[in-house]
Amino acid sequence: MMSQTQNQKVFIFDTTLRDGEQVPGCKLNAKEKLELAVRLEELGVDILEAGFPVSSPGDFESVNQIAKTLKNTVVCGLSRAVQNDIEVAAAALKPAKRFRIHTGIGTSDLHIKYKFNTTREEIIERAIAAVKLARNFTDDVEFYAEDAGRTENEFLARVIEAVVKAGATTLNIPDTTGYCLPYQYQAKMDYLVNHVAGIEKAILSCHCHNDLGLATANSIAGVMGGARQIECTINGLGERAGNTALEEVVMVLNQHKYLGYYTNINAKLLNPISHEVSEMMRMMVQPNKAIVGANAFSHSSGIHQDGFLKEAQTYEIINPAEVGAEDSKIVLTARSGRSALAHRFEKLGFQYTRNDIDILYPIFVQVADQMKEVKEEDLQKMAADYKK
Ligand code: KIV
Ligand code: ZN
Repeated sequence: MMSQTQNQKVFIFDTTLRDGEQVPGCKLNAKEKLELAVRLEELGVDILEAGFPVSSPGDFESVNQIAKTLKNTVVCGLSRAVQNDIEVAAAALKPAKRFRIHTGIGTSDLHIKYKFNTTREEIIERAIAAVKLARNFTDDVEFYAEDAGRTENEFLARVIEAVVKAGATTLNIPDTTGYCLPYQYQAKMDYLVNHVAGIEKAILSCHCHNDLGLATANSIAGVMGGARQIECTINGLGERAGNTALEEVVMVLNQHKYLGYYTNINAKLLNPISHEVSEMMRMMVQPNKAIVGANAFSHSSGIHQDGFLKEAQTYEIINPAEVGAEDSKIVLTARSGRSALAHRFEKLGFQYTRNDIDILYPIFVQVADQMKEVKEEDLQKMAADYKK
């Protein structure tokens, strides 16, 4: 294990209401968005991206309501590197105690050629102009280099150096298409730390998409490369395969404290907020999802159950109470063993001896082979038949 050499804060930038809400069928109304924003503030997110104000009057209204309501969290609004976008975002955010304008432009050759039909030099000019304009409204300006994951490091460093000089205080390095491998994303951050003049005045931010299932790994790698902000969503919601899951990165940093990073998140609220978002957005959480899935604390194989019942830490690295989840479950299937069966009978009030369990176990296995899971009512029936 590495020794703890530092104790550095990693800022959590939640984008459930912006990137997360881009999922088809997950649209929330303004009341739901406000309710969720309040819950995210309670959770302890440092920055909340409330929406993309220029995109619709409804989004403007919702960002504006959130800006009026939140007390401590920095409220952020997205814009393209376009004058009207930035002015509209500033107007929506104006009532906030603290607000941030998030502006940016594509920097990969693919974006420059096909989206903008322009040159690298022109992209730098537009980026500088956008940041300068945003700085007229707030000191807190975040710049995103869209598709930074596929942008050549040398050019990316030039763009980032130019926007830092123009006044950007946070530098978002999105892996927009979820393409990078963790070592590449870490190296990208490391490259910027070592090649951008003035980088120490700003915070580097990870914004990873999950197209290859690497969003969490990439975000952690980004932190290890020098980033101090992670952009993420509850349940990993977002375009296509989604964004980095907030609950995952927070618990990775909590579990690996020796790395020396911490966040402001109250982990006990992770499961309650996951359920709330899932219901509100009508997006089921996959049962095997880390931290918040229905099976995240369930044990069903005999070997695991036996170890878990002797000492929970043998098969659990997180106590479910730490993340606000229900107690761990011992699920009975045809793979379960005698200790799990005895445990579940005991929970129903049956104090069976080892001998009783030896008799009941083959009956249980026969029943279990016929079904996916042996439930409480099946055990009650077995116990009633056994008495006869
Ligand atoms: O994935 C991305 O590049 C984005 C930017 C707009 C920040 O969401
Ligand atoms: Zn994104």
